[in-house]
Amino acid sequence: MDRKNSIVFTAKRVGNIEIKNRIVKSATFENAATTDGEVTDTLIKIYSDLAKGGAGMIITGGAAVYPKNISLHRAMRVYDDRYIPGLNRLTKAVHEADGDCKIVLQLFHQGRQVTTAESGANLGAYLSPALMDYIGSHPEIFDEEGGDDEAEPTGPSSVFDTLLQQTPRALTVEEIEAIVNGFADGILRAREAGFDGVQLHAAHGWLLSSFLSARTNKRDDQYGGSIENRIRIIQEIYEKGRKKVGENFPVMIKMDTTDFFPDGTTIGQSVETAKCISTLGIDAVEASGGMWESLTLGEEKLGWKPYLIPEARVDIDTRDKEGYFLEGAKAIKKQITSPVMLVGGVRSFSKAEEILEQGDVDFVSLARPLIRQPDLPRIWLAGGPDKAGCISCNACFPVGNPPLSCKLDS
Ligand SMILES: Cc1cc2nc3c(=O)[nH]c(=O)nc-3n(C[C@H](O)[C@H](O)[C@H](O)COP(=O)(O)O)c2cc1C
Ligand code: SF4
Repeated sequence: MDRKNSIVFTAKRVGNIEIKNRIVKSATFENAATTDGEVTDTLIKIYSDLAKGGAGMIITGGAAVYPKNISLHRAMRVYDDRYIPGLNRLTKAVHEADGDCKIVLQLFHQGRQVTTAESGANLGAYLSPALMDYIGSHPEIFDEEGGDDEAEPTGPSSVFDTLLQQTPRALTVEEIEAIVNGFADGILRAREAGFDGVQLHAAHGWLLSSFLSARTNKRDDQYGGSIENRIRIIQEIYEKGRKKVGENFPVMIKMDTTDFFPDGTTIGQSVETAKCISTLGIDAVEASGGMWESLTLGEEKLGWKPYLIPEARVDIDTRDKEGYFLEGAKAIKKQITSPVMLVGGVRSFSKAEEILEQGDVDFVSLARPLIRQPDLPRIWLAGGPDKAGCISCNACFPVGNPPLSCKLDS
């Protein structure tokens, strides 16, 4: 069949916007803003190349919504109006590169996964062999510049993190309210900067996902306990943000289908969470999984190699390893009406097509394949190789100075 007629290249709506095809670029931290979070030409090039490459929707790496506790030094920031002009330059460049490509700002707070020099050292044992090789042959990549020296891990509760070997400080209700306002203002600033929508990052162990998980949320106030209470922070963000931007601006979410801890987020729990979130009016759910601490469970329990980062597994070298969060994504799709995106290990056109044809999800999201080949959607459309060139080695996990790029040939 001519790939032009494939379901992969059919349009579908998210909220009030039409996405020209079913290929979403999943968020990847670019390590390319200034150390004060301003947009740079490097960022603009990364996103213009992706837009030219043919993805229907691009989700940026997480942009910080709150001025404290940022240990990802070169993440974009959106907690002040002064970031709007730079972000606007980025959205303009994307829309100029392809007027039909949608660009979405991911909003996040690092929460309990803020690293200090001491706790960050514990991640060393979980770097993939390819990344270790890259670091070994590029000693020049490290610098000490930037970041928040005062960065402090915080979360819903003081639950020890067995990977980072640190205990986050439990947020006060006043702090939670300030963070809610930070997210809601971020939604408005994203719209003012010309983004086509936002995605709340509620996956991978960052702040919002740590509220969703009963393992990391032990609060006994209105933000903990029942599922309704654990999603309250997201509900408040959504309702406040929606008031600021009105109905015609997609607000999406990325969430875990599982974090692999029986007392944490299980598929059953995530389906219940997705049902509550969808009822609020969230425009799309991207289904992922894992938090950094999941890696401590080890290969035997996980069934895959525990390298950073758990949502991005290494060695996706056979078709059956592709789409590793499909089970959870399907379970969510059955229970909600908002579109569902599947992320994690999709590597071949035929697999993406099969998943979409079966109606398992509405979109497939790709992260690493589009780091290696930003033009993969165009390559697929033109009848190019079924399989993406990315070998899932995780050497692109940003360490030190260099901005995000495929490090396979470096
Ligand atoms: C280098 C790198 C940075 C990432 N940064 C983010 C991020 O900022 N926000 C996010 O939600 N996911 C992030 N992810 C996870 C990806 O969005 C995606 O869920 C994961 O890589 C699995 O998809 P893939 O197999 O297509 O790469 C990152 C992944 C990589 C490899
Ligand atoms: S994009 Fe490159 S460095 Fe990253 S996982 Fe794929 S092949 Fe490896």
